[in-house]
Amino acid sequence: MSSKGNPWFDKWAKLAKEKGYPARSVFKLMEIQKKYKLIRPGFRVLDLGASPGSWSQYACEIVGPLGKVVGVDLEPVKFSSKLFTFIQKDIFELTMDDFRALGIEEFDLILSDMAPKTTGIEVTDHVRSVELVHGALELSKTLLRKGGSMVVKIFDGSELTRVRKEFEKIFKNVIIFRPSATRKGSKELFILAINKL
Ligand SMILES: C[S@@+](CC[C@H](N)C(=O)[O-])C[C@H]1O[C@@H](n2cnc3c(N)ncnc32)[C@H](O)[C@@H]1O
Repeated sequence: MSSKGNPWFDKWAKLAKEKGYPARSVFKLMEIQKKYKLIRPGFRVLDLGASPGSWSQYACEIVGPLGKVVGVDLEPVKFSSKLFTFIQKDIFELTMDDFRALGIEEFDLILSDMAPKTTGIEVTDHVRSVELVHGALELSKTLLRKGGSMVVKIFDGSELTRVRKEFEKIFKNVIIFRPSATRKGSKELFILAINKL
């Protein structure tokens, strides 16, 4: 179903606009935050797939003046803040130099709301989403501090159990979460990987 004229989409999109966020996806992160408090004041947060910027904007509100949020996306963002730095790049092309240039070696939290361009073919969208999840997991091996956590979007499918096991090798606690702000029928889930070993 296209998003236009979809009452579910309209409700969350309208609410996001009223609250000054560029995308309705912010409500999913808010729900995760309410329940798990993974974003903390003073944290350095890496936001993969940050455009148009609502997750980064919300993260900046929580990390506050002692924190830092770095967003990465292929597309530009519609958000700016002195706490926020944006790198317009494919995450598979990121190098340590991108972060050293910002004076950051490690993050406390990595967020990924990355999604492939969907085809409507479930299995293809799942496989492409899994590739992005693997990209985020690889980055966490060098960029996430010990004890740090991740929130990673994945489209549900046959690889979910295997992907979960990969996270379980690296993190103490792994939870699969489906926010209530997720559209009915959507395959979208979030892997909450808590406390890197
Ligand atoms: C659902 S949107 C993110 C919305 C964002 N969390 C917000 O709240 O504003 C998914 C984003 O993932 C980005 N993306 C997909 N593949 C990517 C890649 N390989 N590298 C960087 N960004 C990517 C897309 O460009 C898109 O902007």
